[in-house]
Amino acid sequence: MLFNTVLPLTLLGTAVQALWTQTPLATNALAHTDASSNLETPFNIMNLSSVQSEGSFTTLSHPRFPNHGVRIKKSNFCDPTVSVYTGYLDVDQGAKHLFFYFFESRRDPAKDDVMMWINGGPGCSSSLGLLFELGPCSIDIKGVSANGTTWNPYSWNNDANIFFLDQPVGVGYSYADFGETVETTEEAARNVHAFLTIFFETFKQLSGRPLHLSGESYAGRYLPVFASEIYDQNLIAKAEGRSTINLQSILIGNGITDVSTLYEGLYDIQCSTSALEVPFQTIGNCVQIKAALPRCQAGMRKYCIDQFDHIGCGATIEFCDNHIRGPFWESGRNVYDVSMVCESQDLCYPEDEAIREFLDLPSTRAMLGAESPGNFSLCSDIVGHNFVSHLDKWAHHTQDYVAALLERGIRVLIYAGTYDWQCNWVANKLWVDKLEWTGNEAYKKEEWRSWFVNGKAAGETKESRKLTFASVYGAGHMMSVFGSTSFGPWSDP
Ligand SMILES: *[C@@H]1O[C@H](CO)[C@@H](O)[C@H](O)[C@H]1NC(C)=O
Ligand SMILES: *[C@@H]1O[C@H](CO)[C@@H](O)[C@H](O)[C@H]1NC(C)=O
Ligand SMILES: *[C@@H]1O[C@H](CO)[C@@H](O)[C@H](O)[C@H]1NC(C)=O
Repeated sequence: MLFNTVLPLTLLGTAVQALWTQTPLATNALAHTDASSNLETPFNIMNLSSVQSEGSFTTLSHPRFPNHGVRIKKSNFCDPTVSVYTGYLDVDQGAKHLFFYFFESRRDPAKDDVMMWINGGPGCSSSLGLLFELGPCSIDIKGVSANGTTWNPYSWNNDANIFFLDQPVGVGYSYADFGETVETTEEAARNVHAFLTIFFETFKQLSGRPLHLSGESYAGRYLPVFASEIYDQNLIAKAEGRSTINLQSILIGNGITDVSTLYEGLYDIQCSTSALEVPFQTIGNCVQIKAALPRCQAGMRKYCIDQFDHIGCGATIEFCDNHIRGPFWESGRNVYDVSMVCESQDLCYPEDEAIREFLDLPSTRAMLGAESPGNFSLCSDIVGHNFVSHLDKWAHHTQDYVAALLERGIRVLIYAGTYDWQCNWVANKLWVDKLEWTGNEAYKKEEWRSWFVNGKAAGETKESRKLTFASVYGAGHMMSVFGSTSFGPWSDP
């Protein structure tokens, strides 16, 4: 199916929000935030509206983080209907500079919740989510806009203050002074926690505001670990009488979380009807993939899951990838949306290159205040390789972080477009089904039900306590992009 109805824009914005608000926002049983108990010296910035300069950075410092610089500027980037700020917050003795884009809510910035969005990779810039999925504007590949972007009416900042973070260091516009790297998710979590602490200290009027962490793909590993770090650090902060971060929920789209179900899902999407009505993989390949699956699964259990053995796990994944992923490439399909063909080298979409070029323009860099050395890349190979060298994806039981968060009252939404192959909905459904937590029995007993956008079924969902799972019919990995498919809800924005 060709790529002819590109980007009816992020209906996902409406879609996931609709879903998210169908379950009432129960008060967090363990709400551990009390902005008024902040005993610190007030930061020397009043609030965001005191940052007025579009030309240069307003530079700030904080008495408790003497090495943490803050550079913020106002920007007329992307969304003229709200205040937009971009800049760097420095972590780790000030040597790592993490870049963010902050957009006020279009509804009520003084009251609305705060959301963070990150993309995965590892190594990919959150500008992908911003300009291609759910941000206030989209990259203009048709050449209709003088400023390079078009306004997105479905943006998630319709009802949340949202920031897009390039992390870890080395990703997007984020950079380090002396070649410092971050090579595991656990390390990245410490930097993100520092970022958030400084963020809420800096933007005083957001302190104590409910925070939601969202992202996709590798964020399925990032976010449970980040959220757990925030939760644990909150306990320490509270004991020391410092202010805490009001973490409420995590939202993961087409994520990779529990690796044990990954290959089963990869088989299913190619060879069963769980994505397309007719399986697109050849019968010959399907029979071979199915035959390889038990050996792959047994090796994974032995070397990656029950006990982690770096060499054994690495060899197993190589076997699994050769036999289960390998045949996919022959199909020429888009790994992020199997209803389409792959159109570009990077991430299969022509928008990738357009975003990279746009963000590398000197004029864009100047407008945003980007100060990273070298050319901008959408995904950093170096960061990606560093994580792979530690088998970061395979070496940890990330689902246990999810269970622990649920037990402590943090809401979790796992959603997945049914056309994605990479981090597909089947693999996600399987791990959520067997997640070990006290709500598991109740979750299993729940009936699947349809959920609706504008009166049309958009997918299936079920929930138990703070856990919600949802599929999104006919959506790919990056949910903004829908093919010219028969899926009514998606064809007329
Ligand atoms: C924020 O700063 C502006 C300008 O300095 C000021 O007028 C406003 O009252 C401040 N708002 C809050 C909530 O402190
Ligand atoms: C960029 O241009 C488009 C129309 O071409 C407009 O809708 C949008 O608001 C502009 N963005 C900014 C930030 O001015
Ligand atoms: C940046 O891109 C330009 C143009 O594509 C290229 O000539 C240059 O070598 C690149 N620089 C780096 C540091 O990769």
